[in-house]
Amino acid sequence: MDSRMMGDDLHSVLVTAQQIDERLTELAAAIDADYAGREILLVGVLKGAVMVMADLSRKLASDVRMDWMAVSSYGSGTKSSGVVRIVKDLDTDLTGRDVLIVEDIVDSGLTLSWLVANLRSRGPASVEIAALMRKPSEAKVHVDVKYCGFDIPGEFVIGYGLDYAERYRTLPFVGTLAPHVYA
Ligand code: IMP
Repeated sequence: MDSRMMGDDLHSVLVTAQQIDERLTELAAAIDADYAGREILLVGVLKGAVMVMADLSRKLASDVRMDWMAVSSYGSGTKSSGVVRIVKDLDTDLTGRDVLIVEDIVDSGLTLSWLVANLRSRGPASVEIAALMRKPSEAKVHVDVKYCGFDIPGEFVIGYGLDYAERYRTLPFVGTLAPHVYA
């Protein structure tokens, strides 16, 4: 899918494909430097983190393994419910592992703060977070995002893994939708 297929549903492009690519290259270099000589377990949060996981992981020189979790805190609307439920758990035992959670976006922070506490309780050596985007104005709880791609305004965004009612995930950029889409 590209912007031409969106017609007037697309309101604006917030982060271009090139900006994402360049920023992920920088984050990968920082991660490689910090984890030198250690094996990283990348934990992707389905479904939104699929694109950032695919692109970030391939830029890493480090020895990585990958696992996935699905949690639910959103319906098809645009506001966090604050209620987190594990839909799919990890296959990996976290004991002694260096875990790096890979997320698409930190909005209220409720999902990630719950997830970090949950993963820390499983005996890993470390748990850190890499997130493509963060909305500082929407934070309800503090979440320590060690590797953050972009701080963005508190608007609902779509593309590069992020959806509205399961649409627009395959856009190569991050953008906002025209108001009529929500009507
Ligand atoms: P939080 O718990 O409010 O931080 O929200 C976390 C999850 O909500 C993210 O991992 C996304 O899946 C989803 N989300 C938050 N903001 C947006 C957005 O602007 N567009 C699409 N999904 C979002």
